[in-house]
Amino acid sequence: MPFFRQPKIWDIPDARITAEPIFLNRRRFLKGSIAGGMGLALLSLSGCKGTSGNAGDVGNNPLAGTRPISAKPTAIDLPDPGRPITPRDLAARYNNFYEFGGNKGIWRAAQSLPTENWKVRVHGLVNRPKTYDLDDLTKTFGLEERTYRFRCVEAWAMTVPWAGFPMRKLLEAVEPTSAAKFVKFTSFYDERITTGPGWRPGSLPWPYREGLRIEEMANELAFFATGAYGHTLPKQHGAPIRMVLPWKYGFKGAKSIVDIEFVAEQPATYWNTLVPNEYGFEANVNPTVPHPRWSQAEERIIASGNSLSWDVEPTLPYNGYGEFVADLYA
Ligand code: MTE
Repeated sequence: MPFFRQPKIWDIPDARITAEPIFLNRRRFLKGSIAGGMGLALLSLSGCKGTSGNAGDVGNNPLAGTRPISAKPTAIDLPDPGRPITPRDLAARYNNFYEFGGNKGIWRAAQSLPTENWKVRVHGLVNRPKTYDLDDLTKTFGLEERTYRFRCVEAWAMTVPWAGFPMRKLLEAVEPTSAAKFVKFTSFYDERITTGPGWRPGSLPWPYREGLRIEEMANELAFFATGAYGHTLPKQHGAPIRMVLPWKYGFKGAKSIVDIEFVAEQPATYWNTLVPNEYGFEANVNPTVPHPRWSQAEERIIASGNSLSWDVEPTLPYNGYGEFVADLYA
């Protein structure tokens, strides 16, 4: 692939790199604006200056088009997130969805994602392959609400009440064969819709793909979200269905899933293909393993208004979910 032939193109200027650790060392409410590392890497590559695309008629409302849903409380005894739920409007204005641009304000461009008649194809090494529409998924697997801490590899964090169903239910329904060892998840991609100005489709490993070991998918925390905050998902959060893996860095949670394939070998994934030394396949939240360009010891909690203020807190191993998942990595 082209980016392997020119790896240097992903590097970012030194001055930008040093800004982040300095920023993270201040233990207090901090004022200032900083883009995350992935965004910096991509911005420096693509020259993408902002977002555009067909925003539709949403005005200044990032939640336009969502509708209320009712989800039952989860039966799992989840740990208290230890911090308030992130305001809904704020979570909907601060996103990563690189198909729509390289900054955090892509919510408007993401409105061009076509979510009608959505289908998710589940296939590969399974006894019961099936293509589900969204209604099938909700009717078959139900809807429960789970408030999870959310931790991006860029060291910002939120707390989001998702609604959806455990991945394990789908896994059981399609009956993987004994040859299935990994699962590959693919996001929606259409070059005419998902690429903003400055993106160069041929030079990036689209579509966005993620992968899990089959045991990780079977873990009780692994979740498909079809809603958040008591409503259907807004497009910028990955409507109509996305992955949520609270013990892993956020990039593992691919958005707007259209294809799930059970495979024998570890699949190639988007960020791991693009910058393998920075974004591993496993990508569990770990305060003791720094990203090559910044520390992971602390995280910035998105707390208010236009994301100019942050509460800085220590990062927890497995993002606080070790009791559920540590066994997977023993
Ligand atoms: N999924 C797709 N298809 N494209 C993306 O760019 N970004 C990932 C993840 N899923 C991404 C994606 C990253 S880096 C993060 S941190 C989360 O989505 C952000 O989710 P949020 O915007 O809903 O908070």
